[in-house]
Parts: sequence; C-alpha cells; structure tokens
Amino acid sequence: MSDSSTIKVLGLTGSFRKASFNRMALAAAVELAPEGVVVEAYDYRDIPFYDGDAEASAGIPAQAAVLREKIHAADALLIVTPEYNASIPGLLKNAIDWSSRAPQQPLAGKPTAIMGASPGALGSIRAQLHLRQILMNVGAQVMVGPQVLIAAAGQRFSAEGRLTDEGTQQFIRDLLAGLANWTRQLRK
Ligand code: FNR
Repeated sequence: MSDSSTIKVLGLTGSFRKASFNRMALAAAVELAPEGVVVEAYDYRDIPFYDGDAEASAGIPAQAAVLREKIHAADALLIVTPEYNASIPGLLKNAIDWSSRAPQQPLAGKPTAIMGASPGALGSIRAQLHLRQILMNVGAQVMVGPQVLIAAAGQRFSAEGRLTDEGTQQFIRDLLAGLANWTRQLRK
C-alpha cells in the first residue's frame, strides 16, 4: 500500500441499543472521517458467548469468523466503548476473546484507536484504560492519543442521535487523522 492510498478502518462499538451514545459516536466517526480514511461500522452482536467446548468440537463460530476476517482485511481499528462497572461491556470483551482465538490472530500488530462515551463525568476513561490493557495483551498497536472521552454524552447528541457538539466532532476528526498517520508510519 502506498502512503496515499485510502486507510480502511473497521469500527466496532460495545453497545448496539437503539439510543446508544457509543453507537451514535461511531456513526459520527463514519461521517467525520477525513479524506483518505473510510470507517465501516460493523455489527457483531450475534456472536455467541465464548465456549471452549464448542470451540474444541466445532471451531470458531461463523459469526466470529466473519469478524476475524473483517479485522484481517482492515488497515486499522476504531473501538468505541461504553463503560460498564468501570470496564468494557462483556459483548465487546467476548468479540475480542473470539478474535484472539486463532493462529495468526488478526489483532496482533493492528493499528487501533479507542474512544468512548458516557452520560457521566468520566467519559468512559476507566473502560478505555481496561480496553487498552486488553488490546496490548493481544498485540494491537494502540494509539496513545488523542484521548477521546465523551463525558456528559446526553448533552452532545441531538434527539435524532446526531453528534452536535463541535468540540467532540473535532476530537474525532483528529483521532481518525492520527490513526491514519499511525497506520502509515507502522507500515514503513
Ligand atoms: C453503566 N453505566 C456506567 N457509566 C459510567 O460512566 N461508569 C460506569 O462504571 C457505569 N457502569 C454501568 C454498568 C452497567 C451494567 C450499565 C448498563 C451502565 C452507564 C453507562 O455509561 C450508560 O448506560 C451508557 O449510556 C451506556 O452506553 P451506550 O449504550 O449509551 O452506548
């Protein structure tokens, strides 16, 4: 890939509820992607819970295999996490766990940016720190910053679910531009 080619980013969130702030933040990232960056939001909610016996008898479930291939095919990842009890939701952890269960697992070396939203004051920081630790364990190349912490999320989205806060929009643009640069640097 040359330096000028489009960076394909796979976008994953840890919440699929209709009014999810994190799902809406990911949708904003799809729209705000700078030139040369394309973000695809992928819905993986039908992946079954990890089960070592099922894996031993039937291998990786089809839904988890699709996610694994999507991670393989992407140049970079954007993970948008809610905070549940100071950590990431089980749904997201499950997707990472299944994705890590393969030789040449696709998260290793993958340039990755993280962000998150919470109605509270901390903006998902504790979940993001846990996510960073988990991703380090699977060898992802997690970007150090900018940190995008969408606190008081209820004030930053319209009733229709659009991100209206201009400061947050700019943080997301900067994050994606940084991710594209990071991805290109790692390829050199
Ligand atoms: C939460 N929430 C929450 N918020 C937070 O800032 N810190 C936390 O530790 C928790 N813990 C927590 C646990 C559980 C089980 C739930 C369901 C919720 C609130 C959470 O941030 C809020 O519900 C968000 O709106 C969830 O993200 P989505 O679905 O809007 O993307």
